[in-house]
Amino acid sequence: MSYYPSEVIDDIRSGNDIVDVIGEYVTLKRSGSSYVGLCPFHNEKTPSFHVNREGQFYHCFGCGAGGNVIGFIMEHENLSFGDAIKYLADRINYTLPEVAFTKDARQKRELKQKLYDIHKIAARFYYDCLMSDEGKNAVEYLDKREVSIGIRRKFGLGYAPISRGALYSKLKEAGFDDDSIVKSGLAYKRDANTFYDKFFNRLMFPIIDVYGNIIGFGGRILGDGQPKYLNSPETDIFNKSKNLYNLNLAKQAHKRELILVEGYMDAIAIYQAGFKNVVASLGTAFNENHSKVMKAYADSVILLFDSDEAGVKAVMRAIPVLKAAGLKIKVLQVTNAKDPDEFIKKFGAAAFGELLNSAKSHILFRAEQLQKQYNLDNLEEKIEFSKDIAKLMSEVDSSIEVDAYLREVSRLTQIDISAIRSEINKLSNGVQDIKAVASRRNTNKKGIDGAREDIINIVMANRRYYDIISRYLLPEELLDPFYIKILKIIYKLYEADKTVNTQSVLDCIETPEEQSKFTAIFVKRIKFNENEIIKAINDIVRSIKNAYYDKIISDNYTNPNISQLIESKRKANNLYISLSDG
Ligand code: UTP
Ligand code: MN
Repeated sequence: MSYYPSEVIDDIRSGNDIVDVIGEYVTLKRSGSSYVGLCPFHNEKTPSFHVNREGQFYHCFGCGAGGNVIGFIMEHENLSFGDAIKYLADRINYTLPEVAFTKDARQKRELKQKLYDIHKIAARFYYDCLMSDEGKNAVEYLDKREVSIGIRRKFGLGYAPISRGALYSKLKEAGFDDDSIVKSGLAYKRDANTFYDKFFNRLMFPIIDVYGNIIGFGGRILGDGQPKYLNSPETDIFNKSKNLYNLNLAKQAHKRELILVEGYMDAIAIYQAGFKNVVASLGTAFNENHSKVMKAYADSVILLFDSDEAGVKAVMRAIPVLKAAGLKIKVLQVTNAKDPDEFIKKFGAAAFGELLNSAKSHILFRAEQLQKQYNLDNLEEKIEFSKDIAKLMSEVDSSIEVDAYLREVSRLTQIDISAIRSEINKLSNGVQDIKAVASRRNTNKKGIDGAREDIINIVMANRRYYDIISRYLLPEELLDPFYIKILKIIYKLYEADKTVNTQSVLDCIETPEEQSKFTAIFVKRIKFNENEIIKAINDIVRSIKNAYYDKIISDNYTNPNISQLIESKRKANNLYISLSDG
């Protein structure tokens, strides 16, 4: 855990307007005092994710996520508090002061730094080996695969020599201890006094993170053999599910569109052909962390997978993951070649550019995949197919797009558009029913919790209201530990003459669960005019006190002083608060 002074945190927060920051990840539309969009934390079709500029908080009604801009970055980028601060400081070119680290954090940081250094030295070593006599075969292999000299250098390609302890010796020479070397994953202890390198006699591909650190390697066998690629294991600096090959260079293309491929060699070939915005997943299944990372640099993705069945499967798996991150998805299958690398070799960069332009929406790709599952000459199967297509179309927001897709599907399948359309209508009625029930449930959420939320809203709105309400209402009278805690925080802030707003209260709440519960209160900020407010305060305070005394009375049923409690309840009911009380 790192500690920054609160002024620094304030600077970071006020410099990073929450609407601007979240707007980089989520398409937001203005709606009243909030901005609304599709929640990046769960999969949804109708927007329930609210961002409030005035209060500088966000809240999702669908999944309950909520908090301030720092919390958003922590969640979205999967960062610790300290790293989120760094990230946001970077975003506004703010120079952070040196921070005091705890012992644990310092050790961890030192180890990571060592691992980065080890990787840098290793990459240099592999590169030098490629350039030396030892690297002759590897050079020949690269020549054969038509990787240019410039690209070899740009990607830092190298060669791990045949000798099994060459890198280990090099690292020892550079002064690294065995423990750190083993933790880097680049060598392992074979017996009491021998260490072996993980990679030998392989073509080496450094894996580089978005900040330019070398964090691991992929090593290809020269020619045929198994395993074709060996990859670094996960280490303190290498997380396969968060990093993408070539993202460090791809982001420099500033295209907001990324081409996603399967292989190291595909990424390199595509880059060499002049399409720099290409990334590859690192031999692991594409997952939600990958798509979150991509969303930071792109609004749309072209999925470009091998032309085999495994390629189709990989595309089908990646689509929902990318969709959940709010990315636009196009799909492209390589034709007349087994993968993009081979395509470029055979047909050249210009043809590849045309292929890219022919990428189609994932909806059509999926429609085609569906079509393959059915025999459309059979009436029943044709009906099932229409139903599946209708379901697929319900994912599309624009009716113009639906029309275009349907025309295409109908052209491919000879199925009448109107048949599919009637299935769509059936479906969308069902969807509306669910929505209606949900919204009814939301508006019914009044009751006693509603009163508690309203009073918190009002107290925070204006110091004058606090002055009055705090004279009549004790936090404990809210009964519920959460609301008690919130009201106590608010009272304390006012007493200490501190600023009272959602931000300052959020700062006093430790857990993300309570933070989101708190932000939920403000999404529908109630606006009272001066005439209504006093009546509202009276009604709300009275119902809160009533609930409080009911509970206390029933808990103290056998208490001899019960009559006093009943008297207190009666008084509370006759209480009249006027604005001039303050
Ligand atoms: P491919 O077999 O398609 O590799 O695997 P490629 O990059 O096209 O390699 P070439 O053209 O045959 O040289 C795709 C990716 O899957 C991972 C690697 O990341 C590879 O780039 N992979 C593949 C492994 O990690 N290990 C393997 O044994 C094979
Ligand atoms: Mn290949």
